[in-house]
Amino acid sequence: MSIDVRTPAERDAILADPGFGRHVTDHMVVADWSSTGGWTVPRVTPYGPLTLQPSAAVLHYSQEIFEGLKAYRHADGGIHLFRPERNARRFAASARMLALPELAEQDFLDAVAALLRADHAWVPDGTGERSLYLRPFTVATEPFLGVRAAAEATFAVIGGPAGAYFPGGVTGIGLWVSTEHSRAAPGGTGAAKCGGNYAAGLAAQAEAKARGCDQVLFLDATEHRWLEEAGTMNVVVVTADGTLATPPLGTILDGVTRHSVLTLAPEHGLVPVERPIAIDEVLRGCADGSVTEVFAVGTAAVVTPVTSLVHAGVTTTVGDGAPGPHALAIREHLTDIQYGRAADVHGWMRRV
Ligand code: COI
Repeated sequence: MSIDVRTPAERDAILADPGFGRHVTDHMVVADWSSTGGWTVPRVTPYGPLTLQPSAAVLHYSQEIFEGLKAYRHADGGIHLFRPERNARRFAASARMLALPELAEQDFLDAVAALLRADHAWVPDGTGERSLYLRPFTVATEPFLGVRAAAEATFAVIGGPAGAYFPGGVTGIGLWVSTEHSRAAPGGTGAAKCGGNYAAGLAAQAEAKARGCDQVLFLDATEHRWLEEAGTMNVVVVTADGTLATPPLGTILDGVTRHSVLTLAPEHGLVPVERPIAIDEVLRGCADGSVTEVFAVGTAAVVTPVTSLVHAGVTTTVGDGAPGPHALAIREHLTDIQYGRAADVHGWMRRV
């Protein structure tokens, strides 16, 4: 069974107001792997259910990895990906961490391009920062309940038109600082993009919502002191001395947007720094003015200003409580590159 193929009029109605994660395109790309036969040639098929045995390893032990990247339509109609090689490389790194088969980086890129060729009509124009969100993933499919790396797996790429991840968007979000939940521990899978990391954050996210916040800000698992990630995004702190600081890699995701924002920082008069950032430093800095901005960065959320932090029941306003100028300027800079409105001086865009 595949989804009903939508008429062009139905597709246009979806593209006009896609939301995030609600709709999928007409096709998917699938390849299967076994320890004896390796990968099959990826095939483009109508979007539809994957058939899994109830004993498939992924359903029991979460042996799964995924990626997220976007395709942007430029004014001339062309479709472009943003730094997809970094996603391909990270996907291979995640596979190693989850004992899943690695896909060659070129095969990853070819599979994404194959889906875009089949479903090019699903890439919205850039109005309202719409794009096509692509979701490659690999799951362990071997029907086996013993605990070991599965000998069978399936790779697929699906996609769906996307609008703003946070409907409140550029008006800013509030973060609840969790002192109990941690997202990842040293030696764990924090650097992998695997479903388990996200499942493990859901209870904290629900608690954040219950406390009136949009997302949770995770601290490190050892001291519960150092900033790690803001829900599904990397986090950035701007200080009055002109630095743009972000936590170092290790237990956090090596975000493509994180890396891009660090690269763009000097063009905004900011010195990029990767260093441990203590929550007390941020809260004190918000109070005495030495921290001027906090923002969250990620493929889905782009650059999202953080305007308040709730810690131990106390709400701290970031800056003057409105989205900060650097967050807005860097967001505009990044999206101008992605949508082809600014020169791609860093060579980040790949036309498909
Ligand atoms: C992304 O920005 O690609 C993410 O990983 C967020 C996603 C889980 C919705």
